[in-house]
Amino acid sequence: MKYIIEHLEPEMFDWCVIEYRHISQIVGKENLIITNVKKGNEKIEELGEIHKESVSGMKLQKACVLDPEAMLALHPEDSEEFEYLIFGGILGDHPPRKRTKPELTSKIDADSRNLGDRQMSTDTAVYVAKKIVDGIPLRKIKFKDGIELDVAEGESVILPYRYVLENGKIVLPEGFVEFLRDRDEF
Ligand SMILES: C[S@@+](CC[C@H](N)C(=O)[O-])C[C@H]1O[C@@H](n2cnc3c(N)ncnc32)[C@H](O)[C@@H]1O
Repeated sequence: MKYIIEHLEPEMFDWCVIEYRHISQIVGKENLIITNVKKGNEKIEELGEIHKESVSGMKLQKACVLDPEAMLALHPEDSEEFEYLIFGGILGDHPPRKRTKPELTSKIDADSRNLGDRQMSTDTAVYVAKKIVDGIPLRKIKFKDGIELDVAEGESVILPYRYVLENGKIVLPEGFVEFLRDRDEF
């Protein structure tokens, strides 16, 4: 399976690099394609195959967009049908702005699937999709909805999204808490 991230933010922000590095570790750089990268490709070039072109121009066969608004959920059997899973490189927002459908799904002639009805970061969505196509159904994956991370003495950040729990620990990208700690605002 190849994993495609369509970069849909106006810049290659530091948080994008942190998430894309995590995705490269999850799926392997040989399986990761990042498309629509107009600026800042030097920040991510070692993470996978990088394209300036949008995925919408690639005319891929056997492709599926992961979209929270899709009617059907992704199932392990879908691994037999699809060769490409496509995700939006979009920052989570609360309440969700539902950008995936107008900016990605509606521009590609491909099937679409959801990963449940809760919004996840792009790297968490890739983590969950990979588990599913590797044979673990969505209902068997453990989640935590909304997390609070301590970033400094007496200071925490609440992230109102869905995260995966592995052995009771929240799965987060390397350097993510440090990144939040160094920011004035998230
Ligand atoms: C942070 S989410 C973007 C959510 C955003 N509020 C939106 O506008 O759609 C980034 C990407 O992760 C994937 N994703 C996140 N949660 C998902 C879910 N529940 N089902 C399917 N895909 C999901 C989608 O590919 C989405 O474009």
